[in-house]
Amino acid sequence: MMWRRYLMWFAQEHVDFRHAEMQSILTLYNIPIKYVEKPCIKKPYWIVEVPSEEFIKKIASRSVLIKNCIELWGRAKTESQLHENLRSAMKNDTGQWIVNERHNTEISDEYICPSELIQSCCSADKSFKVEIETFCKHFSMQEKVNKIETFSYLPLEGTVKLKNPDVTLAYLEFYGVDPNNVPDKPYDLFFGKWVADGQRDLIHVLSLKKRQFIGNTSMDAQLSIIMANQAKVKTGDLLLDPFVGSGSLLVAAAHFGAYVLGSDIDFMMLHARTRPTRVGQKERHKDESIRANMKQYGTESRYLDVVVSDFSLPNWHERLTLDAIITDPPYGVREPTEKIGIERDNYSLSEEHLVNHVPSKVGYELAHIYSDLLNFAARHLEMGRRLVCWYPFVREEYQEDQLPSHPCLQLVANSEQVLSKLTARRLLTYEKIHDEVPNMPLDPNGGVHNFREKYFCGGEQTRRERKERRAEELAINAANRALKLKLT
Ligand SMILES: C[S@@+](CC[C@H](N)C(=O)[O-])C[C@H]1O[C@@H](n2cnc3c(N)ncnc32)[C@H](O)[C@@H]1O
Repeated sequence: MMWRRYLMWFAQEHVDFRHAEMQSILTLYNIPIKYVEKPCIKKPYWIVEVPSEEFIKKIASRSVLIKNCIELWGRAKTESQLHENLRSAMKNDTGQWIVNERHNTEISDEYICPSELIQSCCSADKSFKVEIETFCKHFSMQEKVNKIETFSYLPLEGTVKLKNPDVTLAYLEFYGVDPNNVPDKPYDLFFGKWVADGQRDLIHVLSLKKRQFIGNTSMDAQLSIIMANQAKVKTGDLLLDPFVGSGSLLVAAAHFGAYVLGSDIDFMMLHARTRPTRVGQKERHKDESIRANMKQYGTESRYLDVVVSDFSLPNWHERLTLDAIITDPPYGVREPTEKIGIERDNYSLSEEHLVNHVPSKVGYELAHIYSDLLNFAARHLEMGRRLVCWYPFVREEYQEDQLPSHPCLQLVANSEQVLSKLTARRLLTYEKIHDEVPNMPLDPNGGVHNFREKYFCGGEQTRRERKERRAEELAINAANRALKLKLT
């Protein structure tokens, strides 16, 4: 079997999540892959080999970080060399890629594809178009047309068709990732056949801007999709978000076919009766709800329900088994971290007050939240299935060996999203690897319990650091206000 060589072009954002998302999709569909070049975060592309185009289409059908995938015909460091390589490819009847190895570490290898790849797209009955993409440099339409014309030696016999052609050819020039330091000539050039686009459009389809019901801590569409991918959500799965809020994570999971359940302590949030999030909106509309969101996206049939419940208390049947848990627990910054309880000793309630009693709440320390979450996941996840959750921390205190852990759960991915100069959060993905479920006591070294105090009080910070912290908060607030304005 001839393995086919592809260029995967990524969006240059959430770079730290690229590998974790890809690895999840590869294992979800059992896709074998060879990395022709070691992936590097400084480059928005990977060169890989897989046994069939169908595999590449499957990957692209899930990945929100991939922009597009190209069957590679030629790759070079200069324009003239690329044309020379493509001309050589037209004569390459070996059935193999030819590699011009470059031993200088600055320069990657050049590739020349087997001629059959080019020939299969050139017949008179195949309409085509050529698309140009230049990364980090803008070109006028005329300049792009001039670039296209340099490929006129390709033996393309079909007609040019700009809308829905049979074959789309892609020419990509990479000028680096630093917009302040763009070279005259590109670093890397690629030519090939477009195979598939990733799921970037889904970010707009599921955007919070157009969503019927959102809350102050709604997770954005792109990160929600990444979470669903890392949880390897598939059709027919049963998924729970135990800190569901406005249900953003359920939206992404339902899109990929899961049946979704949620729970949250906040009655007002689950009934969409909290203060409106969009600026200028005085009251919540009657039709705002998580169910209405599902309806908006055509996934209502996947929505099971949400329940008001305190996660620190057991309320699920012990035989409930879940295919995935994805969640964003409260950090105590934009929402309180609370559980039902009372600090007074020997508290009792009289019969007459029982009916209308609203339980009081006490703080729910982050270390307890993560301990409860991992114990719950170990108990209720199917073997081999995943918990995907965010974990906040103070950047300078981060230590990998202090991440929440459980003997039944293996940490399989850990990607960072920087929130500010001082703080960040990590998307942790755990896979259930054992079934003998001990209830793990709270880890006294659990590294998160002081996150909130550090965030608000600055802990051991100097006056200057506190001032910087304040400036950051003002900047975050200003950004939030701008976002709110955009949302209205
Ligand atoms: C970061 S928000 C989740 C936001 C959600 N992902 C969304 O997209 O809207 C955390 C949620 O945890 C809930 N929460 C706080 N303490 C809780 C508890 N003890 N039990 C269950 N939910 C709790 C809060 O009400 C809040 O809605």
